[in-house]
Amino acid sequence: MDLAHLTGTEAQQRLGEIEPLYAEAFPESDLDDYRWRMRRQMASPGFEAVTARQAAALTGFVYGLPLPAGTTWWDGLEPAAPAGFTTETGARTFAVIDLAVRRTHRGRGLGRRLLDELLAGRTEERATLATAPHEQANQEMYRRWGWRQVGRVPGGAKETLAAFDLYAIDLREPEPTSST
Ligand SMILES: CC(C)(COP(=O)(O)OP(=O)(O)OC[C@H]1O[C@@H](n2cnc3c(N)ncnc32)[C@H](O)[C@@H]1OP(=O)(O)O)[C@@H](O)C(=O)NCCC(=O)NCCS
Repeated sequence: MDLAHLTGTEAQQRLGEIEPLYAEAFPESDLDDYRWRMRRQMASPGFEAVTARQAAALTGFVYGLPLPAGTTWWDGLEPAAPAGFTTETGARTFAVIDLAVRRTHRGRGLGRRLLDELLAGRTEERATLATAPHEQANQEMYRRWGWRQVGRVPGGAKETLAAFDLYAIDLREPEPTSST
């Protein structure tokens, strides 16, 4: 299995093969919304994808981007987080947006490998991801992989779900906040 890192510009050029795999993995999603969201995200600073191929065919992908200052990611979080937890700078938290593996290639460690490969190279202090509240098997999988549940947020106007469960994982020690 060949893994490759892609910038936003490179991912844009591969969207034609990423999109059918997205549609297979998230059949309930609206592809027009997906294209609209992806165009915006791929153009954002720090966007990065990791893709997996076997015999030239795309078998999996993961991508995300750093949360910008003023992000709405944590808005409405229940239970409320400790002071400062939701403060973003553009360099503090990497948000994993989508992770997908072709159905025929699941259950062999590729999903975890893709995620590990993406996060190992990031410089942010932590990562976050959003899961569907009813997808308990996915949530258990993330907990086994060391992610912790932070809380629940309401879905936005363009979202397909009424709520999302947010998870986080530390990637490194937080930057000191003062020079003393
Ligand atoms: C989630 C997904 C990316 C995982 O990919 P994968 O290549 O199967 O992942 P891995 O093989 O690395 O790990 C799968 C884990 O689930 C477990 N698993 C496998 N089949 C399972 C099943 N039917 N039910 C529950 N757990 C299962 C495996 O044991 C493994 O757990 P472990 O690492 O603790 O042993 C893949 O199932 C997928 O594309 N799903 C559809 C899209 C999706 O839901 N993405 C995540 C959105 S939050």
